[in-house]
Formats: sequence, structure tokens, C-alpha cells
Amino acid sequence: MNVQTITSQAFSDQKPGTSGLRKKVAVFQQPHYLENFVQSIFDSIRVPQGATLTLGGDGRYYNREAIQTILKMAAANGFGRVLVGQAGILSTPAASCVIRKYKTFGGIILSASHNPGGVDGDFGIKYNTENGGPAPEKITEAIFEKSKTIQNYKIIDAPDVALDVIGETDLAGMKVQVIDAVADYAELMESLFDFNAIKDLLSSDFRMKFDAMHAVTGPYAQEIFINRLGAPSESIMNCIPLPDFGGGHPDPNLTYAHELVEIIYGEHAPDFGAASDGDGDRNMILGKGFFVTPSDSLALIAANAKMVKGYAKGIAGVARSMPTSGAVDMVAKSLDIPCFETPTGWKFFGNLMDADQVTLCGEESFGTGSSHVREKDGLWAVLFWLNILAIKRQSVEQIVKRHWLQFGRNVYSRHDYEDLPLEAANGVVEHLRNNFSELVGKSFGRYTIQTCDDFSYTDSIDGSVSTKQGLRVLFTDGSRIVFRLSGTGTSGATIRIYLEAFEPDTNKHDLDAQIALAEMIQIALQISELKQRTGRDTPTVIT
Ligand code: G1P
Ligand code: ZN
Repeated sequence: MNVQTITSQAFSDQKPGTSGLRKKVAVFQQPHYLENFVQSIFDSIRVPQGATLTLGGDGRYYNREAIQTILKMAAANGFGRVLVGQAGILSTPAASCVIRKYKTFGGIILSASHNPGGVDGDFGIKYNTENGGPAPEKITEAIFEKSKTIQNYKIIDAPDVALDVIGETDLAGMKVQVIDAVADYAELMESLFDFNAIKDLLSSDFRMKFDAMHAVTGPYAQEIFINRLGAPSESIMNCIPLPDFGGGHPDPNLTYAHELVEIIYGEHAPDFGAASDGDGDRNMILGKGFFVTPSDSLALIAANAKMVKGYAKGIAGVARSMPTSGAVDMVAKSLDIPCFETPTGWKFFGNLMDADQVTLCGEESFGTGSSHVREKDGLWAVLFWLNILAIKRQSVEQIVKRHWLQFGRNVYSRHDYEDLPLEAANGVVEHLRNNFSELVGKSFGRYTIQTCDDFSYTDSIDGSVSTKQGLRVLFTDGSRIVFRLSGTGTSGATIRIYLEAFEPDTNKHDLDAQIALAEMIQIALQISELKQRTGRDTPTVIT
């Protein structure tokens, strides 16, 4: 084998505490940059000789080049086999599925999730462990430390591997197995959901529209909705993956999925709408002229899980990230199952799922999932909803409103202030943190602050402690404002303000969330001094 050891420069670009590296494409294109990070991964996981690696990405610009580099480095670093998605494509949940199904040593996923792609867009890379989930902090920290001191990396000198045809090739003694990117995932979905019931629904006068946003779920949607479930071809849109996602921002929310939103709020709207993000792990659920908040979607899925094939035996427990609304807590209480509150980020759910304490979990940021894989899963959530709709035969709006009637409504919204100067954003957070004691007991109209704290979490499985996970301002009536700095943005700083008010009064269930939360929004701006400190008083994105 023609292994080369190339001298490289150390770098330390990764944001501490994040599970991968996410940067502009141009940064990744610098000589040795990707290689340095990949070698840091391989050095941190001590690859057993002959191990198998799963490899794929969301198809964004630079995906193919990166796959070729990683294959040559995997061969030089002692891997015996790499399972790579056809054309270098694997959605994030599909990669998790492949790692688990074929028990590979781990996987490398190339994606910057919902961030824009293209030559001027973002690229990213992360490592998932053998349980199929994002590497735990002790591994990501080791990778980070390694990347600061790395001196050289190993790569073989060989021509590129053909990735478009399914089959096996040899790369200097390492097997490269190009697998169907969709088949294993579609089969897993078929084992969880009642495809016959959904087929019946889709052949009735029920109409759906799924928007793949020119990202990775296109081929998956084609196979599942059209080929396997028999939906008419107009049921899916933007299903051809493009390296720049057609110039869009592949994030399924009311702002960025506006094309779908216009259809669902327009004349002749379909009964059901859904979208997924760049790498297929996020989802947005819509009914005719109706938006389901991700927090409500999680609660509803939990409340109805038993009617769905894969969950008929019941669920062990649920988990939500701290800023996610307490709607699922109400369901857990009525089902008498545990409900965990974890910091933002999917990796915290993995331990709970591996220990069989949690079956369903979710985040307010359009992430929902279950223990079938160890990533959030966009199409899984869409299929869950279709399965519920196929059984209930009610509209999405009816299902949600009946849920509120039973459990109460957690009115919820998130306001993002993106691309702020770093110092100003840190100033807002510091100001709040320093003022906790003065805030307690303060009243604003009908709202009185009961407590304030800086969320910290102790993992009950591995004992690890994560501090400073968001500032919580809790009101006496159960309402809540949470302030957090984003960990995923690539330019400037982003402050997220999460607003939640519990509304048991069914007469108020028709109110628009922004109207119902108007006072809370003002309180948030007032106590944070956001406008004075950043010069902004309108959010960039409201979800
Ligand atoms: C955001 C979301 C968070 C999610 C993460 C990865 O992180 O808020 O819930 O886990 O993307 O998809 P943030 O930018 O807030 O740190
Ligand atoms: Zn994503």
C-alpha cells in the first residue's frame, strides 16, 4: 500500500462542545484542512485493524471531493471496509440506520445540516459512534485537542473510487462497498409504520405535499411516498438534490420553507404538508392552513404512539431538550412514564435510549425521533403523522385541537436574533446572568418572575455534567422565557429567545401564538436589554 505521511499544520477551529466541524466551503478547501480533522478523528478513536466505517453526506457542494479524500485516508489508517452511500449520499438518519444495522465501528457524516450550501455556503463533518449517534463529548473533546497539535496525516496515493454504481471495489486492500442509500432506511420505516393503512389514506381524496427543499431527502421521499406508498407524483416537490440546494436555505420552518407554506395556506391547499432539511434529520408538520409546533408534534406523537405498529407495546419514556415546551411532559404524566429534560443537542438523548429509558424524544428546533436510530429523523416524523392521520381520519388541525382540549395548550414560539456582534450577544447573556437576583419577584402586568437559573444537566447514565446550557426565567403561572446562544451558527452570534405560556383556557386555543405571547415578548426584550445592547428589536427568524 502506498501510504504517504503528509506534514500538516495544527489548527483548532472547532467550537468547543460541538459535535463536529462546520465551516464555509472555502475553509474546508484549504490544503490539508479536511485531512487534519479526519486524521484527528481517526487518532482519537483508535481504529481496530480491519474495522468497517460508514460514510456518506447530504450531497452538498464538496461532498464528493471530501468522500474521496476520506476513503483514501481510511485505507491508510487501517480500515478494512467502508460502506458508502451511492453517489456519496446518506441522510443523517439513514447513516445512523446503516451504522446500527451493519454494526460498523462508526461513521463519518458530511453535512452542515440546514445551513445553506454551494461554493459560498457551508460544509461540515462529524463522527458518529457504533450506537449510530453523534460522538459523546469525551470523543469530540479528544478530536478537538488532537486537532490543535496534529503534525501529519496518513493517506494513500490512488485514483478516485467510482461511487455511482452499487457494488464493491478494492482500494489498496480496503473494500469500498457502495450501498443503496435509500433501501435500508425505507425497510426500517416499513417495519415501524403500517404502510397499508397509509396507502389507503393516500389513495383516498386525502392530498399531501412533501418538500425536500432540494436536499438529501428527495430520493428517500421518491422511494417511500411514491414507489412504496403509491402517492401521486405531485405529492412531493423539490426532490432533486442539488449541491447548493437550489440557492435556498434548507431549513424546514415557516420562514425558509416558504414555497410549501404558501401552498399550505393557499387556495386548494393539500390536507397535509411536511418538509425536511439539508441532511434529512429535521421535519416541519403542517395541516391545511395550520402549523404544528415541533413541541406539540412531539407531544402528539407520544400520546398516539400506541396506535402505531412499531410502538404498540408502549413507550418506555420521553425526553425533550430544555427549551422545548412542556407539552410532552403533560402526556408523560398521563401515561405515567418518565420525562427527561436535557440540554439542547441530540447527543444527550443517546445515553437514555441506549439504557432503554426513553423511546421518543424531540427538540423545539424541528427535531423529533425515536430509538429506531440515534439521530433525529425527518421522514420518520412525517410517516408517524401519516400513520396517525390514516387511523384517525381527522384533519391535522382537529387532531391538534383535540389534543389541547385534553392536555391544555403550551403556547410557544422561538425568536432568533442572528448574526449579532459576538461581544454584544455575550453582553446580553452576561447582563441577564448578573441580574438574576434582582429579577426574582419582579412583576410585569399579570406575570411575576418566580425563579431564574442557568440550566445545568447531570447525565444519569454516565454522570457527566454540562453547565451553562441556557438561562431560564420562570414565572409563577408556569410561563417561561429561555435565552440561549446558538452553538451552530457560522457567522457572528445568534441569540435564541424561547417563549412559552401554558394556556388551559380552551377559549384561547384559537389565538395566534405571537398575539398570545405579546406580553412575554416585551418582557424578554426589557429584561435582556437586547435592543440597547445589540441595536436590534425584531427577530431575524420567528418559529
Ligand atoms: C440548533 C438547535 C438545536 C439542534 C441543533 C442541531 O442548535 O437549536 O436544537 O440540536 O441546531 O440541529 P443551536 O444553534 O441552537 O445551538
Ligand atoms: Zn439537519
